[in-house]
Amino acid sequence: MTDISIRNVKVLDGTGSPAFDADIEIQDGRIKTVGTAGPAKLEIDGQGAHIAPGFIDTHSHDDGAFFRYPGMAFKLAQGVTTVVAGNCGFSAIPADPSIDPARASGGILAGVEAGFTDLNGYFEAVMGKQPGINNMMLVGHNTVRAIVMGMAKRAPTQAELQHMYGLVEQAMEQGACGFSTGLIYTPGKWSQTEEIITLARAAKTTGALYTTHMRNEGDRLLEAIDESLTIGLESDVHVHISHHKSAGKQNWGKIKDSLAKIDAALGRGQRVTLDVYPYTAGSGRMIEYFNLENINRDFAEVIRIASCPPFRDYEGRMLIDIASEQAVDITDLVRTILTAPKGERTICIHFIIDEEDIATNLRHADMMVGSDGIPDLRGRPHPRLFGTFPRVLGKYVREDGVLSLPEAVRRMTSLSAQTFGLVERGKIKEGYWADLVLFDPDIVIDKATYDDPKQEPIGISTVIVNGQVALNNGQHTGVGSGKMLRYRRTAYGE
Ligand code: ZN
Ligand code: CU
Repeated sequence: MTDISIRNVKVLDGTGSPAFDADIEIQDGRIKTVGTAGPAKLEIDGQGAHIAPGFIDTHSHDDGAFFRYPGMAFKLAQGVTTVVAGNCGFSAIPADPSIDPARASGGILAGVEAGFTDLNGYFEAVMGKQPGINNMMLVGHNTVRAIVMGMAKRAPTQAELQHMYGLVEQAMEQGACGFSTGLIYTPGKWSQTEEIITLARAAKTTGALYTTHMRNEGDRLLEAIDESLTIGLESDVHVHISHHKSAGKQNWGKIKDSLAKIDAALGRGQRVTLDVYPYTAGSGRMIEYFNLENINRDFAEVIRIASCPPFRDYEGRMLIDIASEQAVDITDLVRTILTAPKGERTICIHFIIDEEDIATNLRHADMMVGSDGIPDLRGRPHPRLFGTFPRVLGKYVREDGVLSLPEAVRRMTSLSAQTFGLVERGKIKEGYWADLVLFDPDIVIDKATYDDPKQEPIGISTVIVNGQVALNNGQHTGVGSGKMLRYRRTAYGE
């Protein structure tokens, strides 16, 4: 008998086609039938819900979360069945136990003692935790550079470059889906374009991607886009621009110019894609955004504290309010926080993006959705960790009409799967893996807010991961059926 039959659903197959009525049968983790279902061991009545391929979070920092929170409830509840981790140049691999993996990974591995050194070891260690969802990995430039060169503010020697290339190449051979940079972060910001071109060439050997948190997302956004496109051209690798935005009020609207540059590149035959998160605030480790010798007052004024080990009572508050309450200068407050014991672990949220720019981004046909959620559940994390996908479906599709439902689902599923090399996923198709989400497009919406960010969304009832029910009528089953996925270029253009 079939394992699972799902009836009374409207199928959004992930290709962008309109929903149609069909039953779905699941056998041995895969979709066996899209059409008419026979009797099954488990019968699911969709009660008129829509069913889509499980959502793919193309921009995550969940490498370490698979150890801390293996159930990955904050992603599952959104209908996410696969994440891409290792973004912004920081990744759990490679890890060198003699070189402080927590530091080299930009904090991703803080408190994680798993003993792995490479992608194979990492995947094995995560599988031992019975992860709730699937994971794909990028290998991060900052991590590789920290291992080979420490925090050196200079170009690599030929030997160091070779060493870094070897580490990136090994990750590709073991199944990483690409090479990521975070060129505003330490130590990646000390690199020149040439270094990145050389290392990105390691991704060419398997046809994998170059993904980038660009060198600038504000005043010099267009120059940064040019650099990214040059790296793609020179290394002959697909470029994926992470969390596309124009930051800072004086730059709002500029993303139209950067999208025009990308369209021109696409027109010339270059391979380029992007992702965006549906919020007007960014978030990250506060220490990365400030030079303690010369603290940027304008930036400090738009910051809200997410988590702050030395001053827990600051969590959830704007720096500007704390400073006025204490009658201190805001730049002194920034210095006090960052120089306190464990102050470097402070995560901040900064309001820097224009609402209209989010809509403009979401209208672009090659724009995927990536949460950029930082999975630190202490304090008050950015609500994107819990809300990204239902927010796109509820706010940008249903309420604002920025894009259609089938198109939004395509951008969260088949486009991401094809781009990131996930074979046999991202579509509802016979023979494909049964990663599925049942949701009600009339009510689906995020519930996480800046004040109360750890709230699961509503309107997502059931999530199936590799043919196992992981969320059942909104309840986490804890089945732990996620897999570690290796990149295969054959998914491209499938
Ligand atoms: Zn980033
Ligand atoms: Cu990121």
